[in-house]
Amino acid sequence: MNDQPKIDRRDFVKTSAAAFGVTAVGARLSPHPSHSYDETIRVGLIGCGGRGTGAAVQALNARGNVKLVAMADAFEDRLTRSYETITGRDRDDRRDLGPQVDVPMEHRFVGFDAYKEVLPLVDVVILTTPPAFRPIHFAAAIAADKQVFMEKPVATDAPGIRRVLATAEEAKRKKLNVVVGLQRHYQTVYREWVERLHAGMIGEIVLGRVYWNSAGVWVRERQPGQTEMEYQMRNWYYFTWLCGDHIVEQHIHNIDVANWVKGGHPVRAQGQGGRLVRTEIDHGEIFDHHFVEFEYADGSRTLSQCRHMPDCWHQVSEAFHGTNGTAPQPGVILSSSGHTLFEHDDENDPNPYQVEHDELFEAITNGEYTYAEAERGAYATMTAILGRMATYSGQMVEWNEALNSDLSLMPKRYAFDAEPPVLPDEHGRYQIPTPGVTRAL
Ligand SMILES: NC(=O)c1ccc[n+]([C@@H]2O[C@H](COP(=O)([O-])OP(=O)(O)OC[C@H]3O[C@@H](n4cnc5c(N)ncnc54)[C@H](O)[C@@H]3O)[C@@H](O)[C@H]2O)c1
Repeated sequence: MNDQPKIDRRDFVKTSAAAFGVTAVGARLSPHPSHSYDETIRVGLIGCGGRGTGAAVQALNARGNVKLVAMADAFEDRLTRSYETITGRDRDDRRDLGPQVDVPMEHRFVGFDAYKEVLPLVDVVILTTPPAFRPIHFAAAIAADKQVFMEKPVATDAPGIRRVLATAEEAKRKKLNVVVGLQRHYQTVYREWVERLHAGMIGEIVLGRVYWNSAGVWVRERQPGQTEMEYQMRNWYYFTWLCGDHIVEQHIHNIDVANWVKGGHPVRAQGQGGRLVRTEIDHGEIFDHHFVEFEYADGSRTLSQCRHMPDCWHQVSEAFHGTNGTAPQPGVILSSSGHTLFEHDDENDPNPYQVEHDELFEAITNGEYTYAEAERGAYATMTAILGRMATYSGQMVEWNEALNSDLSLMPKRYAFDAEPPVLPDEHGRYQIPTPGVTRAL
């Protein structure tokens, strides 16, 4: 056994096309031909940050004989910290997961190509890197016949969405379960609420209002000796190619609820946004606020707000207005006269982050093909990208044109000495999108 994680030096020489090429495989009729799941279900984690670590713990806490057997991250320090958290007892659940973790040093992989080393070792893969890499990792996972849990968003640009949609078809053909971490679909209060809205409790939905107004998230400052690619990879939230901007990375949850309630995606959007408060040198290129009006095929609108500014009105929620009443917050439905038609107390509801893993691993353990969520994840992500296209450009943007856009945000090469797609000026500042100037598509 080595005492150091493997560093994949090939990262430094391969072009992106070669590095991320995926071999097509033949059709398969049985969902699990290569592994009997009444034995151990072997899980691999790709992207060992905060969410990946949490998702791995939830997978290990799910029903079934689940073991974590391989891990991959772009950075060794992130992988090591994740491993220590999973095997330690410093977590809320305080369970000893040690017996379920068998990740020897030779199964810990570091670098842009690390994901490739994990896939042959596992049955299920958890994809929790920044969203830029999801189309690549998802395609590779399905090509390798793996069951998938992947976090939202599933891409940051339209070419990435189209790749995920194509892979989603392949996953369906192979009967591979795919769960996407839009956990409101696994949250009792939302399930109960949306079911009643779909049943017509407030009539036709004519207006939605969705919000993610919060103070913002972490910043990872530039460190001496970092290449530009390493800096952007560490501080990924602030680069659109990696994160999608916060309208995509975070507000996707609320936008997804609007699509869920409406039973489809919008047909066009227009909006506005900018950066007023979060303008420091480590805030990259993304906006700190967006407001979007999404129009659905039936002419109804959803108004979407997301803001990352401290000391302002905080709201992370959704509301819907119908011809016969309102649904002012998740779990509450009122008649037109204000009479309570439905109210759900969520105090004792299970943790949706755990439920999504419980349900996925239940299906896998039983040899069932139950979850095909990649398409829904792709449409939710694309809706948020549509909103970003509208706010960056200041234009009315049509869904079909947005989805078919060839505007790729990705670098030509994935390596720490490669040039990222955006570069700072001599003062270390990046170009900020300008409505009326920045192209939408
Ligand atoms: N569903 C939710 O509520 C929820 C909550 C938090 C985060 N997320 C999502 O989870 C994802 C990760 O977010 P996070 O908060 O854990 O971020 P994070 O920065 O803590 O973790 C991301 C990890 O991925 C690694 N990474 C980056 N590029 C990689 C690559 N090419 N190959 C392998 N590893 C790579 C990073 O080094 C880092 O360790 C994001 O898509 C985010 O939107 C979802």
